Amino acid sequence: MNKNEFLIELAKIGSCFLYDLDALSKHAQNLSKSNCKLFFACKANPLSSILHTLDSANIDFDIASEGELRQVLSLGISGSRIIMTGPAKPEGLIRLGLEHKISTFVIESPFQMQQLEKLVKEYRYQPNVLLRLQLQWEKEEYNILGGEKITPFGMDLKTVASLLSNLSLPFLGFHIFQWGNILSLERLRTIWEHTIQVCKTLRPAFQVLDVGGGLGIPYNLYEKPLPWEGVNALIAELKDVHSLPELWVEMGRYMTGPYGQYVTSVVDIKETYGRKILVLEGGINHLARPALISQPFPTRLLRESCADVAKFALHGPLCTSLDFMGYHMLPRDIQIGDCLSFQHVGAYGFTESIPFFLCHQLPGEAVIQNGSMHIVREPKPASSWLK
Ligand SMILES: Cc1ncc(COP(=O)(O)O)c(C=O)c1O
Repeated sequence: MNKNEFLIELAKIGSCFLYDLDALSKHAQNLSKSNCKLFFACKANPLSSILHTLDSANIDFDIASEGELRQVLSLGISGSRIIMTGPAKPEGLIRLGLEHKISTFVIESPFQMQQLEKLVKEYRYQPNVLLRLQLQWEKEEYNILGGEKITPFGMDLKTVASLLSNLSLPFLGFHIFQWGNILSLERLRTIWEHTIQVCKTLRPAFQVLDVGGGLGIPYNLYEKPLPWEGVNALIAELKDVHSLPELWVEMGRYMTGPYGQYVTSVVDIKETYGRKILVLEGGINHLARPALISQPFPTRLLRESCADVAKFALHGPLCTSLDFMGYHMLPRDIQIGDCLSFQHVGAYGFTESIPFFLCHQLPGEAVIQNGSMHIVREPKPASSWLK
């Protein structure tokens, strides 16, 4: 069976995600030969078989919640390969990290630092710390991670300088990450160079710069992929020019995004005031990104058609106009019951969605491994969680 046939098979049981672990494994092995230390940001896709595939490719893990930490630990991954980021680090999460001797805490506030310094006294273990900085940029630009906006991620320069003068735990370096889905090497260079310069004003020499994520993937035909060889060469150059011993990347989208597809079916078709509308079984209840940042995922019809294409507005099943999956050019002969596949949903797909609203089915998840398809979780009705 080929991938299309797997997707059509899956659509018979309901809307589902399908991840190609064989292709992901090759990609991860290729990335792991790099000039930086690579972590996978679990928030992009915490499915155990995805994490297991990345573990086998020697990728380490960035967690930002107790759920993510427990998921990584449940796969037998040692704390020495885990770092903790995130603006919320409740006492229980810090304790769990200390119990499992996670390698590094990324400190995002003075309170996180105080809590860690207090709690660490109860454990015979000293984790490393990275201090997360929030920079101010001159030009206004929207970005889901904040960009120019003041956000809860990290601390301003004054606060970091004051923490640096009083640190009692091993200081490893800095963490700075404010931009997502970057497709230009030049833009990466500008951001990373500026970042390094700011860090050097705080400490002329330090061991690690963690630049977070931000490497982009194309979501439409007009965008070009960011070449890994170019990114890797840029990292080597910056480390060399700025005498930077280690650069860490917490990769999400670039690692898993291209290896996931989502299949759903057409439940209604109509034309309203001249606009062709398709209503789908699954929408932002399964894939919220189009509503969050008004950027649709590439979509295609899962059967051959010789018909001309026309512009359709794709909507999900929720009773809100927010449930809009974008305008797409699709064959005019599309019918109720046809299956559509959305591409590049291997990152920020299912777990970023709003699955409970209106009590529709939760989507299933399946993987392709060694050429065969395995269903990890079938679609589930609302009765599986509704009390
Ligand atoms: C702290 C942190 N690291 C890494 C990532 C992954 O980013 P990306 O998917 O752009 O690689 C995120 C995403 O929000 C993040 O918040």
